[in-house]
Amino acid sequence: MIRLRLAELGHRRLALAVSAAVVVLVAVVATFALWPDASDALRRDLEAEFDGAYPAEPPGGGDIIDIELVADEATVSLVDGVDTEVWAYNGTVPGPALRVSLGDTVRVSFRNDLDAATTIHWHGIRVPNDMDGVPDVNQPRIEPGNTFVYEFTPPDAGTYWYHSHTDGSQQLERGLYGSIVVEGPGNGTDYEVDQVWILDDWLLDDTGQIDPAFNTSADRSQNGRWGNLITVNASTTTELAAAPRERIRLRLVNASNGRVYTPDFGELDATVVAIDGLTVGRNPDLTTLTLAPGNRVDVDLAVPAEPGMYSVVDTFTGSPQPLATIVVDAGSTTAPATFDPPTSPAVPDWDNALDAPVDHELVFETHNDGDEWIWTINGAAYPNHQSIELTAGEFTKIRLVNQTHPMHPIHLHGQFFKVLTRNGERVDEPYFRDTVLLEMLDEVEIALVPLDVGQWVLHCHIQEHGEAGMMTVMEVAADG
Ligand code: C2O
Ligand code: CU
Repeated sequence: MIRLRLAELGHRRLALAVSAAVVVLVAVVATFALWPDASDALRRDLEAEFDGAYPAEPPGGGDIIDIELVADEATVSLVDGVDTEVWAYNGTVPGPALRVSLGDTVRVSFRNDLDAATTIHWHGIRVPNDMDGVPDVNQPRIEPGNTFVYEFTPPDAGTYWYHSHTDGSQQLERGLYGSIVVEGPGNGTDYEVDQVWILDDWLLDDTGQIDPAFNTSADRSQNGRWGNLITVNASTTTELAAAPRERIRLRLVNASNGRVYTPDFGELDATVVAIDGLTVGRNPDLTTLTLAPGNRVDVDLAVPAEPGMYSVVDTFTGSPQPLATIVVDAGSTTAPATFDPPTSPAVPDWDNALDAPVDHELVFETHNDGDEWIWTINGAAYPNHQSIELTAGEFTKIRLVNQTHPMHPIHLHGQFFKVLTRNGERVDEPYFRDTVLLEMLDEVEIALVPLDVGQWVLHCHIQEHGEAGMMTVMEVAADG
């Protein structure tokens, strides 16, 4: 009996040990086997949440808008009494302020009358891949005297801009940029005043001409070329006239090679309604926003009842720089528009995205190769880059790591993305972007669901950094 009991006990111990081992084994196997399933399920949830944020295809039914653009040398007056030689679209800086309606097809017949090859990029607009303007990636350079027709139907209403994507450190700096607004429901018809302000800074010499030393080693090794004259629409005296209590939709674009702005509207009541084109999910705080090269911000301004001059300044550097003035005169008495600043219900929160695994990590570094400063992404300088492969329709998380001290406004072509975290902390950005600023040693996680198939570049919008290698290609393949 006793022996039997002992034997039973032994069996029980053995059974206990065996079942414990089985539990552990099952747990281990389950962890490995089920983990991908769990993250796949999470991705599907995040994709479902994204669904409808913006359309895969542009709406049809609009007109064909024929536009002629010519790039050529021109002169403009940046400083009183001085003709400054620039490169311009249709003879003006900024180039023509283009405005189309959602659904329209834009057909730009572009002629290059410069002595240098060039291309045009439609920053922020999801265009067909071969219309995106990056030489060698999307199209050949347009040689002097040649013509190229850009044709696309913008799928998203919003504030965009066009600029040279060839030798940008010189061509943007000389003035080859302009705005393009796509009007749509809630974007462009409700306000009494609707205007674009393109911010830029120029490096002028003593005679008021553009300093011809482009892409210097200081520009490359630091934060790009910063100018000594800040302009709005290429003027230091831009004024916007409005009547008391009117509503203004002001669309700010940063076309500078390197300068960052923090616009301050002072006493004016300013509400952010769109970032980088798309309408925000909730209106974020303007005072914490930076407008890095490439960025846009649309602001809803409530004009005060009191006539006066209201100045708008930039506070990014700490010493306020005047940008432009809003002039309110007592004149008109039209009944002001009353509506809430627009928001979009379609921006996903993506709260669970923090738990999703990182799919790609891009580490930005710099190397001083003799006299040459080189910027690398994962150790490689464009065009010796390693492309990133993405699949259309798949939720993708990318970690951007700045291992350097200079700033990097990272711009993705053809895609909007959301910022999830900055330096390990969750970021509450209720909107999409196409450009995010990484400051010194920042680590930023972004997420996107690519919809547009093709080869899209990702690069630093500080022109001198992009040209010194800080660019790669995202290859978005069709699903399945
Ligand atoms: Cu605003 Cu790659 O460009
Ligand atoms: Cu950079």
